[in-house]
Amino acid sequence: MSHARFFRYIQDAPWYADFLQPVLDELKSLPPGATVLDMGTGAGKLIAMGQALPDVQWEGADVDAAMLAEARKRPALRHTALHHLSAGSTLPFTDARYEAVTFCSVLFLLSDPMPLLEETWRVLRPHGFIVALTPSGSGQSRPILRNQIGWRFHNWTWFVWRQMTAAAGQRWGQQAPLAAFARRHGATYQKQAVFHEMATIEMVFYGERMPV
Ligand SMILES: C[S@@+](CC[C@H](N)C(=O)[O-])C[C@H]1O[C@@H](n2cnc3c(N)ncnc32)[C@H](O)[C@@H]1O
Repeated sequence: MSHARFFRYIQDAPWYADFLQPVLDELKSLPPGATVLDMGTGAGKLIAMGQALPDVQWEGADVDAAMLAEARKRPALRHTALHHLSAGSTLPFTDARYEAVTFCSVLFLLSDPMPLLEETWRVLRPHGFIVALTPSGSGQSRPILRNQIGWRFHNWTWFVWRQMTAAAGQRWGQQAPLAAFARRHGATYQKQAVFHEMATIEMVFYGERMPV
């Protein structure tokens, strides 16, 4: 199985939808017609789930062509623009194009996320915001799996995921680069624990947060 197909298998496990849902919850306040870029979309699960949000226009981007090929196989993404990015380059998007940019399990993998964050800032609209979901590398897995996710076979992938992400997730939490980024731009920053404290949602607001 290729890495991209394996990653799609992980994304399609029942627990993964619970993990991503808090990101969609943060997008419910967007105005009708808002355009959202899912950076590092991988096999496109967030965008597929995001079709449940009426009036949101989705785009996806990733540096990995094989991941994007998996995303394109999803019927829900048939009409979604998916951009193949060159690693380390500037983003091929005009200024102020997106109301929101999402990063699900992406930034904490980068040795230096700042250049990508600066580019993301450039492509955000006034009143836009960044949403970053990151595994925390903590939380109580056994009772959570038993009580909230259930022992469905496909959920074995959760143990693999936790093993793969714990160290980088803890490092991200300790170093807090997104908070530093927000401070440098004088932007409002919020952080909350989600998914039974096994992940965090961080948000950085370009301007004042729009009233819901
Ligand atoms: C762990 S996967 C997460 C995929 C998806 N966001 C999710 O939540 O399931 C990380 C993804 O980020 C992509 N990625 C890594 N560096 C990137 C960069 N600089 N720009 C865009 N995507 C990147 C990888 O190719 C991979 O598809």
